[in-house]
Amino acid sequence: MDKGNILQGDRIILGTCYYPEHWDKSLWEDDLKRMLANGIEVIRIAEFAWSKVEAHEGEFDFTFFDEFLDLAEKVGMKVIFCTPTATPPAWLTNKYPEVLNARIDGTLIRHGMRRHYNYNSPKYQELSAIIVEKFAEHYAKRPCIIGWQLDNEFNCEEWEFYSESDTIAFREFAKKKYGTLEKLNEAWGTTFWNQTYTAWEEIYVPRTTPGGNNQNPHYFLDYKRFIADSVCRYAKLQSDILKKYIKPGDFITTNSLFGNMDHCRLTKESLDFMMYDSYPNFGYCLDNYKNDIPTLNDRRWSINLAETRAISGKFGIMEQQSGSTGNHRGMEGPAPRPGQITLWTMQSIAHGADYVSYFRWRTCTMGSEIYWHGILDYSGRDNRRLREVGEIHKKLTKLDEVAGSSYRAEVGLIKEYDNCWDSELDVWHGRIERASQAAWFNALQKSHTPFDFCYLDHMTVEQLSKYKVLVYSHAVILTEESVAKLTAYVEQGGTVLFGCRAGYKDKTGKCVMLKLPGLIQELCGTDIPEYSYVAPDDAVPYAEWNGEKLPAAVFNDLLAPVAGGKVEAEYRDAYYEGTPALISKETGKGKTYYFGGTFNEEAAAVFLRQLGLAEPYREAVELPECCEIAVREKDGKSYLFVLNYSKEPVEIKLNKTVSNLYTGATESGTVMLPGYGTSVYRL
Ligand code: GAL
Repeated sequence: MDKGNILQGDRIILGTCYYPEHWDKSLWEDDLKRMLANGIEVIRIAEFAWSKVEAHEGEFDFTFFDEFLDLAEKVGMKVIFCTPTATPPAWLTNKYPEVLNARIDGTLIRHGMRRHYNYNSPKYQELSAIIVEKFAEHYAKRPCIIGWQLDNEFNCEEWEFYSESDTIAFREFAKKKYGTLEKLNEAWGTTFWNQTYTAWEEIYVPRTTPGGNNQNPHYFLDYKRFIADSVCRYAKLQSDILKKYIKPGDFITTNSLFGNMDHCRLTKESLDFMMYDSYPNFGYCLDNYKNDIPTLNDRRWSINLAETRAISGKFGIMEQQSGSTGNHRGMEGPAPRPGQITLWTMQSIAHGADYVSYFRWRTCTMGSEIYWHGILDYSGRDNRRLREVGEIHKKLTKLDEVAGSSYRAEVGLIKEYDNCWDSELDVWHGRIERASQAAWFNALQKSHTPFDFCYLDHMTVEQLSKYKVLVYSHAVILTEESVAKLTAYVEQGGTVLFGCRAGYKDKTGKCVMLKLPGLIQELCGTDIPEYSYVAPDDAVPYAEWNGEKLPAAVFNDLLAPVAGGKVEAEYRDAYYEGTPALISKETGKGKTYYFGGTFNEEAAAVFLRQLGLAEPYREAVELPECCEIAVREKDGKSYLFVLNYSKEPVEIKLNKTVSNLYTGATESGTVMLPGYGTSVYRL
């Protein structure tokens, strides 16, 4: 790979998103030069610019971007070029309306916004293949290009697809998966409410039915799998073409994260690495997020960075918020305060990103995103935010040795796509899953305990074995393969903590008739003779464990030890007072805990303390709750990031003498970190 390329493990690089088609050509050169002068050395271009090359069907004119790339080469700017398929031209959708996505009732989603196409239209696949091939054939050899972005934000705006092409493709998906209608009917439990299918043509993507979305859940789970599969197939169609043309060492990526996607498979099949689009202000401006994880505001975005890291060990940020957010109701938010662009950039880097590209250089003066501010405002004059970017660049030049290092965590939170999707469909599952996710994230953050997400179906036992403890909050759907992996992990010395409701569904999402927790009864040494939601007029039941009060919120499995299980704690409340609430069992060199409750923050904090996981870096540093820490490691060296999300200055206590990479000075004892301040120390 070219020496100047990103994510080479030699330095941390800044970029920005640029739209030459939005600006008069007379601005281009000065823009590029000012970027370079402020430490921005990569731009991403062309993701919405199909018509600049193919203004009419079959008529290709490459001069617009040729002229721009000539300039980029003249001034020494590196470019991430995009395939333009997120915004099909008006001529295309007008002539071939079959490429459009549709609402659940069949109404077509028309031209005028973006992402209005569907992945399964043979026509759109054909026209996408042509434009990708033309772009690649013509531009890929340009020296300034260092990599490619596929499309833009697959599944942003729309993550459900109801076009006729989707129905046809869904039938193929179902045929491939089940082979016969008997098997499909069995898997979808269609005997219930007389839903039995007698011909493949009777199967559709979801359509309007009575009772809102209370449709057959097993069918719906497969529909979600189908959407994820559709994205992967469409991305691969593009990346297979690009691979024929790109220069050796140039990369293929895309920007995410969105719903109904298997990002792990997408990355493996089609990308060199994933990029994340990070808008931390959503954390306290967007109602959804406020309700989800109420207390952590912009710091909440670390959960998405952890998710990206789990999908793609090496990753970058394609869009890092650098201005106010806008246009959609509920998303309008303030400008980053002085220091916050730095804080958010360092948040991304602390979690492992070695490339950070700001959205966007200039704020657009037209169209739907006039309030999605970039670094510069409408006039384009130098401003406070640009000066801050320049300062960030200076800091990053001191962090070369950190590039390529890996985020270090001893706690792994298990995920599997089937359970993620099931929790989105199933209100019982969703309620406990959302509560536990928030609880774990908050408890881990506030106790300064780094964690990773672990996608169980994409990891080997060896990869899992680096974690002291794996937490599987709600392993609702359980398969033999997952259980075998977790058992092997425990046997070799690991600890797994399960929360309530494990093992009551199989792969199809149907309930099993086994004694619960189904396939892990033996591994966990527990039976679940009874279970219930916590009644609204009951207090949160609790248990006592080694002298600590352990709340068991929302939902309770009532446990009974079997097969060598040991009762650790009993419910002290509700009608099941005296019934086991926590059971452990040793297997091989390791151990399992089965907890009958949903995790609230207090319960997660109890487990972190009791399992000896909380505050693993206390010997090096003591911090107030408002600070996040992260540690990245490389070649036997550890780099400690401290991020202050509060606007007030805070004191941190360094219990060791450490080297401050920004200044080169050694520090120890009590030091002040300004409001929104960050530090990086070599431990
Ligand atoms: C992203 C998108 C950009 C722009 C931005 C606004 O979702 O990729 O094109 O819309 O949000 O903040």
